[in-house]
Amino acid sequence: MEERMQTELEEVLCISAVEYAKEAGKLILNHTESMGQIEQKKNSYDLVTEVDRKSEDFLKSKIMQRYPDHWILSEEETGQKNAYDALKSKFGEYGWIIDPIDGTTNFIHGIPHFSVSIGIVKNGQPVIGVVYNPVTGELFTARKSFGAFLNGQSIHVGKETKLIDSVLATGFQANDWKPDSRAVRQINQLAGKGRNVRIIGSASLDLCWTAAGRLTGFWHEGLNPWDAAAGVLILSEAGGFVTDKYGQPYQLHLDSLVASNAKIHEELIEVIQG
Ligand code: IPD
Ligand code: CA
Ligand code: CA
Repeated sequence: MEERMQTELEEVLCISAVEYAKEAGKLILNHTESMGQIEQKKNSYDLVTEVDRKSEDFLKSKIMQRYPDHWILSEEETGQKNAYDALKSKFGEYGWIIDPIDGTTNFIHGIPHFSVSIGIVKNGQPVIGVVYNPVTGELFTARKSFGAFLNGQSIHVGKETKLIDSVLATGFQANDWKPDSRAVRQINQLAGKGRNVRIIGSASLDLCWTAAGRLTGFWHEGLNPWDAAAGVLILSEAGGFVTDKYGQPYQLHLDSLVASNAKIHEELIEVIQG
């Protein structure tokens, strides 16, 4: 595809993704008092509500109507299946990777920190990222090579150069919320070496908050493509760095993710590896 046509198409795709994320956000807020049954997926820490499904169905129907030749990878449809196999099975140039509510536990408990996350990939690489927190109205966006934005204002990663001056975040994969899990050991390794650690409960927003310089870095084991597809592009476009825990460039199928303002990256990886 000619470069100019591709740029124009991606501009339109970004506008659509923003529109759908905002509409899904409205739908979610309209159901905060009536979220329906709360179901357990793998265990009692891995939850889904009827609102997650409604938001996902809404997003899918909008995308299919307007972009019938694009593929979609969505959390609740992919379910227990291996997300990487599901990702590999998708064919077509453009694909949408969606998390209808990223931060479902926060949503259920009335903690105003969750998002609708939409990443659009071209031939497997993120080209558009949209993360919207409907409660705060914060909308993070990025298009590849065009920078990252919060409500239309350009954002950049933080300036910290040392781990000791850094505020980091992490999270637990549902299966990993147990004593001596990988995340518990990593937090233990980090204790006293960074300024502090936050577990805020929405990986997509953790990546965006790193992009905006609120957090200096974020790491997580066992994320799925829908948690990260939008956020990794937003962070990269804000000047950040995203790898796996071995320092290799992050790919959507990788099990570990380390994200930072780039300046503390090596130090963070060293500590996480133990
Ligand atoms: C979860 C959140 C959380 C992360 C979990 C994810 P969900 O997504 O992103 O921050 O620690 O691993 O599963 O289940 O709320 O969409
Ligand atoms: Ca998620
Ligand atoms: Ca989700």
